[in-house]
Amino acid sequence: MAIREIVLEPNEVLHQVAEEVKQITPAIRKLLTDMADTMYEAEGVGLAAPQVGVLKRIIVIDVGDDNGLIEMINPVIVASEGEQFGPEGCLSIPGYRGDVRRANQVTVKGFDRKGKEITITGTELLARAFQHEIDHLNGILYTELAENYYEIPPEEEEEFEQEQEQAQKQAQKQAQTTEAQEPNQEKE
Ligand code: NI
Repeated sequence: MAIREIVLEPNEVLHQVAEEVKQITPAIRKLLTDMADTMYEAEGVGLAAPQVGVLKRIIVIDVGDDNGLIEMINPVIVASEGEQFGPEGCLSIPGYRGDVRRANQVTVKGFDRKGKEITITGTELLARAFQHEIDHLNGILYTELAENYYEIPPEEEEEFEQEQEQAQKQAQKQAQTTEAQEPNQEKE
């Protein structure tokens, strides 16, 4: 288990476009493992490689649903649908949040750590996480999209965490109900 240092805003690396991964080397697989460790340690639901100072197109996400840990290399959104509007935070901007308009459902294609192509469709929190993390790969922070942006009063931090937990439970329920309809959804 290796925790990497999370790059905090302001930092130039968070505003640059990350490069595609050409070859999945042991260093890339180690990076994926470290990114997941770092995300869990920080109690986040997603992390992009630039947030640990690596300008490569790699994300990890775990919103607590049936997908478990999602590791994705060179992720691309191939379809999006609907709209959601709600609060977002970022491990690179602790103590703040803002309300962001996002697609309510996205289908994302990419590669797993073995180089196998994977396609995952997510709604609500998972869709939001995909869009937020893929934005990081393009040097875009949620603060650039947020319709409002504010400091979280310390006493509200806990409330926000509870809200996120609830959203996770909701996502879990949804994953269970959609599973029957999408038995072929690829999973690692
Ligand atoms: Ni972020």
